Amino acid sequence: MGKDKVHIFDTTLRDGEQVPGCKLDTEQKLVIASRLDELGVDVIEAGFPISSPGDFQSVEEIAKLVKNATVCGLTRSVEKDIEVAAQALKYAKRPRIHTGIGTSDSHITHKFKSNREDILERAVAAVKYAKKFVEDVEFYAEDAGRTDNEYLARVCEAVIKAGATVLNIPDTTGYCLPEEYGAKMKYLKENVTGIDKAILSCHCHNDLGLATANSIAGVINGARQIECTINGIGERAGNTSLEEVVMIMRQHPNLNLDTNINSKLLYDTSLMVSQKMGMPVQPNKAIVGTNAFAHSSGIHQDGVIKNRETYEIIDPAEVGVSESSIVLTARSGRAALAYRAKNVGYELTKLQLDKVYQNFLKYADRKKEIEDNDIHEIIETSEVGIKS
Ligand code: KIV
Ligand code: ZN
Repeated sequence: MGKDKVHIFDTTLRDGEQVPGCKLDTEQKLVIASRLDELGVDVIEAGFPISSPGDFQSVEEIAKLVKNATVCGLTRSVEKDIEVAAQALKYAKRPRIHTGIGTSDSHITHKFKSNREDILERAVAAVKYAKKFVEDVEFYAEDAGRTDNEYLARVCEAVIKAGATVLNIPDTTGYCLPEEYGAKMKYLKENVTGIDKAILSCHCHNDLGLATANSIAGVINGARQIECTINGIGERAGNTSLEEVVMIMRQHPNLNLDTNINSKLLYDTSLMVSQKMGMPVQPNKAIVGTNAFAHSSGIHQDGVIKNRETYEIIDPAEVGVSESSIVLTARSGRAALAYRAKNVGYELTKLQLDKVYQNFLKYADRKKEIEDNDIHEIIETSEVGIKS
């Protein structure tokens, strides 16, 4: 039986770009959008067209450029927003309007100074209005993570009746636990009449470091779209990281879920977004961090040199990293030193290795990391009869 497809909705250019310091100009956004299309994302959220003339222009240009993916623009549940988004998306092959409103009691009382019935009516009106311009309308129930499930189900049912094709269930504040978020999706799947006419979507923020886990819990419980960003950038602690959810589904075939992503482009795409946004990727970031495929302790290095699978669950080539690395530090063992020495041209006997290793430890205690040029020096000053 074939795997169920999970749609990848990339919001690097909207939720990701709204972060201070990540601002891009239209040219930069076009380069990223084109790469996202090549990567195989299903939807590119290109921006929030009413927010500024620059963002409108970017969405319009991206809509003209993108060949395969659906191009989406964000709006509030406000007619003017929807009209402007529709205009910006005019040239898209596959346009989508992403409209919505806060549904948690906190949003309803504090932000809108309103009540549940009024919010439900505004949600329906926004979807109906967006449907006048495009067929594909996604509805977001902002702060769904903290919205009462019964009320959320009523909102979902009403917006499906109004024509929504996708229901976004954002954990806007990154508050949910994976079980809770998964149970929310299951509840909606089981209690919303007409749910089969729409796709449930996960949009998780990372305030407690749970965005990826929550999105995976969402798809396990019936969602079929994940909203995410390259490198997990986004408001505050960020959004779900695209590369993480894609590789989790790939590495766990029992989930029976997959995406259209060409994973071999992940590393390059991460680098490109990080450079264009001036936003460094933390070295220990899963999948795309510089240490993600670097082995540094002696025990791990010995295992990996004997067989990669002992400590590597992903073949680095699968995500576009040429090979994993054996980093030499004072915590490395003889196996790692022999391996790296061989790579730079020295085949050491056991006796030579013992001697070189003692010399190596003296160097390594002084220096954080031993590079190839240090290896030459270490071997040649070890009195094992090797000189250049
Ligand atoms: O986090 C959120 O709720 C959002 C919505 C605007 C979709 O980004
Ligand atoms: Zn968000």
